Amino acid sequence: MTEKEFIPSPYTKSVLSGKTTYKSPSNIALVKYWGKKENQIPANPSISFTLNECATVTTVTYERLNEPSNSFFFDVALDGKVEENFKPKISTFFERVYQYLPFLKEYQFKIETSNSFPHSSGIASSASGMSALALCLMEIERNLNPEMTQDYFNQKASFLARLGSGSAARSIKGSLVQWGVHAKIEGSSNLYGVEYPHKVHSVFQNYCDTILLVDKGQKQVSSTVGHDLMHGHPFAEQRFHQAHENLLKLETVLAEGDLNGFISIVESEALTLHAMMMTSQPYFILMKPNTLEIINKIWAFREDSKTHVCFTLDAGANVHVLYPEDEKAQVQEFIEDELAVYCQNGQFIHDFVGNGAQKIN
Ligand code: DP6
Repeated sequence: MTEKEFIPSPYTKSVLSGKTTYKSPSNIALVKYWGKKENQIPANPSISFTLNECATVTTVTYERLNEPSNSFFFDVALDGKVEENFKPKISTFFERVYQYLPFLKEYQFKIETSNSFPHSSGIASSASGMSALALCLMEIERNLNPEMTQDYFNQKASFLARLGSGSAARSIKGSLVQWGVHAKIEGSSNLYGVEYPHKVHSVFQNYCDTILLVDKGQKQVSSTVGHDLMHGHPFAEQRFHQAHENLLKLETVLAEGDLNGFISIVESEALTLHAMMMTSQPYFILMKPNTLEIINKIWAFREDSKTHVCFTLDAGANVHVLYPEDEKAQVQEFIEDELAVYCQNGQFIHDFVGNGAQKIN
């Protein structure tokens, strides 16, 4: 598929008004997306587990304008409260996707959204938020062009979500989602995420992820700025090459259920992501002292317990603790007894791998 194929054919139906709701999850990358080209094209391919509990629910109510407008008309509310701060991000998103969703200037919209995770928990809500919004917009387009296939619907939802936030492309469908062209992953695309097409061992089913909320404050450096700093970064090419190699290694690890191989790739990816931040110009550090305390505790516990618990990080101080379902009791006891003290207000969220977004209404 090319970008052009996402420009819709003339709409065949006319709809005056309606309402649609989607619930879309967050995701946690195993091989990280860090660095991008123009139009939200990733500098390297990435893969993530889809989460189940951390999700955004978005309702879009739409009403046709008397005549098409030159600008976008919408209101946004978070948990029932009008959120003016969200408007610029959504305006930028609408600008980017307008050529693929020409109905955007023919309707006025009310966007109501809420997250399952605590406000400003430091959990990235852009993946779940942008994917939920993209799905609602696709549902509206499906009403205008009812003959579209479900595959096209999902692909275009991921394509649109990507234009809102890169990682959101991986939150539409599937428990393991790959985004970005990779020579050995058939069907992979820079334009949208695909369900990981290769064999995955049963040990990775229902894999657990406990998110430790280490720092809930505003990040000093946004992901978008961080991605940008990969332009001209001294280690960029080497890093992009490494991501391709790690995806290749992950193929065998996932097929064979090689948990030690999994740990080594996933932890190295997390530390490399932060190493890129520490070696960019300007350089910055998003980990906090408690992030390091937690990492060291995990390493010591893994050694003692012979379990397969490991960590990953996204662009912040929070730690994602990953472990197989059959080690859940032991690892969750360790988290509650030994790691919760390093979290702000002792907060953490037990999550596990889910299957993607759901239509609610
Ligand atoms: C570190 O998707 O938040 O979580 O495309 O600028 O919205 P934008 O960036 P975003 O970047 C996420 C980066 C990451 C790694 C990952 O999820 O792959």
